[in-house]
Amino acid sequence: RLGPFNLPHRVVMAPLTRSRARQPGNVPGSLAACYYAQRASAALIISEATQISMQGQGYAWTPGIHSREQVEAWLRVTEAVHQAGGLMFCQLWHVGRISHPALQPDNMLPVAPSAIIPAGKAFIENERGEGALIPFVRPRALDLDEMPYVVAQYVRAAKNALAANFDGVEIHAANGYLLDQFIESGTNRRTDAYGGPVENRTRLLFEIVEALTPVWGPDRIGVRISPMGKMNDIHDDDPEATFGHVAERLSEYELAYLHMVNPAVEQMQNGKDPDPRALGMAKLVRKQFKGNLIVAGGFDAESGARWLREGWGDLIAFGRKFLANPDLPERLRIGAPLNADDPSSYYGGGEKGYTDYPSLAQDRGDQPKSCV
Ligand code: PHB
Repeated sequence: RLGPFNLPHRVVMAPLTRSRARQPGNVPGSLAACYYAQRASAALIISEATQISMQGQGYAWTPGIHSREQVEAWLRVTEAVHQAGGLMFCQLWHVGRISHPALQPDNMLPVAPSAIIPAGKAFIENERGEGALIPFVRPRALDLDEMPYVVAQYVRAAKNALAANFDGVEIHAANGYLLDQFIESGTNRRTDAYGGPVENRTRLLFEIVEALTPVWGPDRIGVRISPMGKMNDIHDDDPEATFGHVAERLSEYELAYLHMVNPAVEQMQNGKDPDPRALGMAKLVRKQFKGNLIVAGGFDAESGARWLREGWGDLIAFGRKFLANPDLPERLRIGAPLNADDPSSYYGGGEKGYTDYPSLAQDRGDQPKSCV
């Protein structure tokens, strides 16, 4: 049981950036409804990361949920998923410093807890309409009096997700984006109520959880975290203390779930056993969080089953495997071979590598090749 929903099994579709939003306007494209509906046998679909505002955007061609056009397009997606019997949450995303003036309204600077440049490059659209990588710039530190406006962006997006008929929302507090930049000590040098001790660094996250509760009810809100993650130049000096606190305090809200990027994802993706510290981190979050825990990252059928058996998670989310196998739960159930995923078509483009991965039924010729 997840919030008000009875789930048929424990296999979740992880949020996956696919960079195929229609331009201009970052509107979910006409293929998105097909892509998600093909994957409706997931116990829960979590949408690709979806910016809550223009300020929240960090990559070319990702969808938003702040304009009327976007809400109307998402409505077609959720309708297709519901018709296929699925359940879908919208992942609410503000990238903070992982952006560039080229992606911001009026070419403004990206915002962050502190004015610290991330290592790496932003993905923008160049003058020829192609994707291009360009070095990050120094972000602007948010003023204290802007903080309510950040919370308001989440509230507006959460209301839009309700209007778009999603089944719930996931607050993206992982992978080095805005909320994670506040939570982790390496990116937060503030000396006000939002910086310093962990109670302050997590303040924005809890303000957002509390602001969204009247919109959705706690049992249709999930939160995603990535303890010990390294994506987007993020670092915390004491991840056990930080994320132990986050998990413990989130337990007080009776949320739909907590979604953790597997701290051992790197090792498990390379076919190795989790290192003891990463596994210890996962077990600490498990112990501190009393509700449903989704774990994502680096799992196959065997390791996923093991984590469920050991009680280290209640549900397992699959990204790359779900992208390449629209009927992944059935394939796992019967031990069928999996389609391999094609990294060259993860981001951008059209049907290829998006809606053309076959299901077992399509391979047998029982179903047409495409839903478009
Ligand atoms: C990405 O677009 O590459 C991306 C988005 C959200 C994440 C991680 C990666 O959490």
